[in-house]
Amino acid sequence: MAAGETAETRYQQCRDTLEQRGQGHVLRWWTELDSSQRSHLLDQIEAIPWEVVDPLIQSHVLRRPMPDIPTDLQPAPVYPCEPGAGHKELYEEARALGRELIAAGKVAAFTVAGGQGTRLGYDGPKGMVAVTPVGDRTLFCIFAETIKAVRDRHQVSVPWYIMTSAANHIQTLEYLRAESFFGLPEGEVSLFPQAMLPALDFDGRLVLTAKHDIALAPDGHGGSLKALAAGGALANMRVRGIEIISYFQVDNPLVKPFDPLFIGLHAKTGSEMSTKVAAKTDDLERVGNVCVGGGATRVIEYSDLPDSIAHARNPAGGRKFNAGNLAIHLLDVSFIERITDGAFALPYRRAEKVVPTIDDAGARQTPGEPNAVKLETFVFDALPMATKTFVLEVERGEEFSPVKNPTGVDSIESAKRDQNRRACRWLEEAGVNVPRASDGEPDVLITIAPSFAIDAEEVLPKTRKVPRLMPRDQVLLT
Ligand code: UTP
Repeated sequence: MAAGETAETRYQQCRDTLEQRGQGHVLRWWTELDSSQRSHLLDQIEAIPWEVVDPLIQSHVLRRPMPDIPTDLQPAPVYPCEPGAGHKELYEEARALGRELIAAGKVAAFTVAGGQGTRLGYDGPKGMVAVTPVGDRTLFCIFAETIKAVRDRHQVSVPWYIMTSAANHIQTLEYLRAESFFGLPEGEVSLFPQAMLPALDFDGRLVLTAKHDIALAPDGHGGSLKALAAGGALANMRVRGIEIISYFQVDNPLVKPFDPLFIGLHAKTGSEMSTKVAAKTDDLERVGNVCVGGGATRVIEYSDLPDSIAHARNPAGGRKFNAGNLAIHLLDVSFIERITDGAFALPYRRAEKVVPTIDDAGARQTPGEPNAVKLETFVFDALPMATKTFVLEVERGEEFSPVKNPTGVDSIESAKRDQNRRACRWLEEAGVNVPRASDGEPDVLITIAPSFAIDAEEVLPKTRKVPRLMPRDQVLLT
């Protein structure tokens, strides 16, 4: 607010701004609000970036934008997880290079944790959800301990950047502080919030969640690129000598943020942005499809992929578009600097969501069906902006098991199951006998904490620390 500007002037300016846009309803309850509620509402109105929102109401709220599918769409070339005969040397060299880059402190971890976690319905930041089969360790704990393990092994600082949103920033920070950053130096953990945009009803009107509160939503994980630049994290990375950002989502307890092969191949191929994929479980699986088309690598969301393409077969009879995006990326710091310098915009997507609102009497209601549009950008839409990209296929069960829902598919339950399966596999590969039930599933519950091992190879020298496993044992290896 300019000096001398009164609350009344602010109110009038906000009212004009709203009325010019047919959004006058936002001030409907003004006379009932107390001074702090009034000031909150004016702050929210003044923070709305109308230059972004006005055109999006026309293009994405009042209309459904048509997906932009290049006519020459093909599956993206993918490096397999195991090298073919001609590539063994390349993979070995890449692994060594990846280890060197990690040990030289050139790789930072970056967790996007600004989402609202609506499907999970947990009352708090998703990273605070306990997800391990044994020991109730939270997602943030797993990531922090992974970073600490890498830090300790290489005796190098490994900064961790976490993107939050206005809705969960303070709670996330307080949680990490209360946990003493799980043993990481506080100065190596940076939290910064992403931008928020208003949710709009299907007529393009701002939604009130209370008489004094406009419904705002984080601007999608694509907002992370702008937030990295705007919040000073990129500049901070430069000071620390970081060259590569290891991007992952807060909901995936299996992620391996410091995978030497991925990092090494990213660097060796000169890629600016890389992505991990896994074979899709079925033609219509709800994951993004990593493709090439229009001269660039791009991800086509499952909802945008025409059925004829989703069901297409290659000459051998396999699924032609089989590379499911796992939302695990490497991005060069210089790439993000380049694309965020000047007018930078990822395309916006329309997401129809349930947004709690108030009725004509001012009472809060949560509709049973989506009632509003959230406007989001997606980080994978930066892929076409990279001059060089690289795609690595991995085993899904080794690296991906997202926590999206309370039960069923992609839930806490399934993430625990997948962590347990992976831990048991790692132990068996190291020669440990793991009791299994008649259906082949492990008959034990094991959590391998990152302090014990962050990959299968690290288990081998530690097998003497593993107790003899009996059916139904529950063991936390630290
Ligand atoms: P999802 O798209 O699964 O959304 O986010 P979500 O918020 O976790 O869950 P729902 O859809 O409301 O149930 C995938 C990842 O991207 C992050 C999330 O925190 C999660 O790590 N994300 C999503 C952001 O950081 N910001 C956003 O605006 C959206």
